[in-house]
Amino acid sequence: MNQKQTVTLRPDEDGIAAAAQLLRSGECVAFPTETVYGLGADACNDTAVAGIYAAKGRPSFNPLIIHVDCMETARRYCDFTPDAERLAQAFWPGALTLVLPLKAESGISKLVTAGLDTVAVRVPDHAVGQALLAAFGGPVAAPSANPSGRISPTTMQHVLAGLDRKIAAVVDGGACGVGLESTIIGCTGAPVLMRAGGLPVEAVEACLGRRLMTEEDPSAPKSPGQLLSHYAPRGRVRLDVTAPDDGEVLLGFGEVDGAPLNLSPSGDLTEAASGLFAALHQLDNMGAERIAVAPIPDHGLGRAINDRLRRAAAPRGD
Ligand code: TXA
Ligand code: MG
Repeated sequence: MNQKQTVTLRPDEDGIAAAAQLLRSGECVAFPTETVYGLGADACNDTAVAGIYAAKGRPSFNPLIIHVDCMETARRYCDFTPDAERLAQAFWPGALTLVLPLKAESGISKLVTAGLDTVAVRVPDHAVGQALLAAFGGPVAAPSANPSGRISPTTMQHVLAGLDRKIAAVVDGGACGVGLESTIIGCTGAPVLMRAGGLPVEAVEACLGRRLMTEEDPSAPKSPGQLLSHYAPRGRVRLDVTAPDDGEVLLGFGEVDGAPLNLSPSGDLTEAASGLFAALHQLDNMGAERIAVAPIPDHGLGRAINDRLRRAAAPRGD
């Protein structure tokens, strides 16, 4: 599986049909969603799912999200609690993943759920991703299409930079609009925020009419995949910096001086989210060894951006 050329496919009918066929034959195919590129495989095929873990070098205790074309398809694999029903109606297709009770006889590979009795599911809001899921006709397991622990990809070029020759194909859908992974809400009991992401937490709370539990809450179920060091560029990262040290490259936000890259000169969090991973990739390409990041407000999408940046700054043990 390692030496094969990775085919790039156009997002037209032929390209999507070819991608669906590769998925049916058990191959891994990267495809665009509105959040980030996913590395897809047939969620009911153990060997195919193992291919995702192999290509990414992903720790096997970390379960995967299944992607489906619509809520009716999702119902074949999991049960919707009333809160989940309400959230799915409000936000699907979109940047929301729900962790729900897995149906018995769902057929989903245990490698997807890491043996849990729950499954994470979402319906992406992207014409190409949707077309691929509809053409494939079943659930596609897909983590972000990057080597484990590295920066998530928001373009086909990012995917190839990390996974060329490790996966069968990538479908080109241009740059992802949202630019951050989905928000994950555990919905097996009282709703729990498991990962801040592309859908602001405030929107989820407004829809439910109450505050979400967080994983710090002792009674909340935990998401096994939230490894602290993650989303890492090669350079060391320091956060909340107003005055960079000598030798640091400043990643700006809002009106700051001396930043060769700025996530949003006007201070717009949506723009900053959509360009965050691309900026981290670009800092890698520039060979930046020490990266200083300007302060970013911790509300709305800023919460998800700061979560990703804290992981990028976490000690790596390397
Ligand atoms: O936007 C996204 O969510 C992207 C695109 C490709 O859809 N996907 C993505 O997947 O970010 P991934 O695998 O990188 O993140 C999945 C997260 C992990 O942190 C994992 O631990 C958690 O979801 N997760 C998956 N299944 C779970 C479960 N049954 N219970 C709790 N957490 C789960
Ligand atoms: Mg990821």
